[in-house]
Amino acid sequence: MSGASARVDFLLTGAGQLVTADPGLGEGPLGLVERAAVAASQGTVVFAGPEAALPDLPLAAGCARVDAGGRAVLPGFVDAHTHLVFAGDRADEFAARLRGVGYEEALASGGGIHRTVRATRAMPTHELEEATAERLVRAALQGTTVLEAKSGYGLTVEDERRSLEVLAALARRTPIDIVPTFLGAHLIPAEYAHDRAGYLELLEREMLPACAPLAEFVDAFCDRGALTVAESRRVLQAGRRHGLRAKLHANELGPTGGAWLAAEQACVSADHLLYLDLAEAAALRQRGTVAVLLPGTSFLLGTGRSAPIRVLREAGVTLALGTDCNPGTCYCESMQLMIALACVHGGLTPEEAVLAATDGAARAVGRAGVAGRVAPGAACDLVVLAGRSYLDLPYHLGVNLAHEVVKRGRVVARDGVPLGLLEAPPPPPATPSPSPPPGTA
Ligand code: NIG
Ligand code: FE
Repeated sequence: MSGASARVDFLLTGAGQLVTADPGLGEGPLGLVERAAVAASQGTVVFAGPEAALPDLPLAAGCARVDAGGRAVLPGFVDAHTHLVFAGDRADEFAARLRGVGYEEALASGGGIHRTVRATRAMPTHELEEATAERLVRAALQGTTVLEAKSGYGLTVEDERRSLEVLAALARRTPIDIVPTFLGAHLIPAEYAHDRAGYLELLEREMLPACAPLAEFVDAFCDRGALTVAESRRVLQAGRRHGLRAKLHANELGPTGGAWLAAEQACVSADHLLYLDLAEAAALRQRGTVAVLLPGTSFLLGTGRSAPIRVLREAGVTLALGTDCNPGTCYCESMQLMIALACVHGGLTPEEAVLAATDGAARAVGRAGVAGRVAPGAACDLVVLAGRSYLDLPYHLGVNLAHEVVKRGRVVARDGVPLGLLEAPPPPPATPSPSPPPGTA
């Protein structure tokens, strides 16, 4: 259970219950250890296990000590799916949905994603960065330590690139890990409504070369009213040629064949999956595609439908959770709430939900074994809960249960107060003073 010989610079003791999310380390699917300790060196876990078995490791001067005081300790949450970069809000559409106006109606009448695209294009970059930063901080205060974030509200070469640049700029200001995804195929923008192939051409020829260097994944919204299976296939294949790994928004609004495409393309993840039969689930499992469930979205779409957990279980598909944080279907940064909704709305057991929010989500964003676990070699990302059991997550609702959040062996939040979570933006470059007109020197 112990690793590296470097000096320990972070030591947590007194965990009443440690969720390692590593079945090799403890009991049951969550790898539970009682009366546990965690030691880390330079941000990486070197020991996780019973405090009684803590080896006599050399401590660095100034080693950070955390006494968990009998509380439960979990891996930091991994949010496997967000649309963090956007401007404006669609609270009025949300209210209309409460009155029975469907999500697809707003989209079809030029609202929905189209509206957020207009607002995002119009917002100055520094404002877009600060709006995104606020969401990132809210996520981290609730225990998220790794977060996938998509572009997709730009839909021009410049605006898609700008969204990814905002994410890159934020990544330089925060210890939270951001996994950037290029979603230029969120929708065919209104100006290309009558030339869909023209937009895909632009995406392939100009957007991907401009955006791929700033992204890890390519994604497409393959669904009713968005992209077809053939269009999405083209986008994923083009993204791959630019070195990106593939994800897919699939079967959120209907049984559109998206899940089949995700399996065919061996996507790292297929996300949403509200419509899924056993054959599709078996195909995902066979290709090693992770199912990212977004229970906030299914809950708020208001149709009563959630991803068919029995089918996913029967096929043995790896489950992940995400907030889907976006202005349309689910404006929420809290993985704690997602765990609760996954249980009470999605039918997951608390153990399935916690595993999906940690190890499963890490797999969905290409961070298997590195994030989402408390085990030697993994990043020392932790949430110290306010309570004594992970069961508090689905049980004790509506409060922030993250007593402390640790990122790479550093406490970055305590009782809802950020501690070095976000640096101030760099000052704008000094405008050169106008040079004197020639001949005046
Ligand atoms: O995952 N489905 C596509 N994208 C988002 C919704 C985006 C929006 O409505 O702005 C989703 O639900
Ligand atoms: Fe989404």
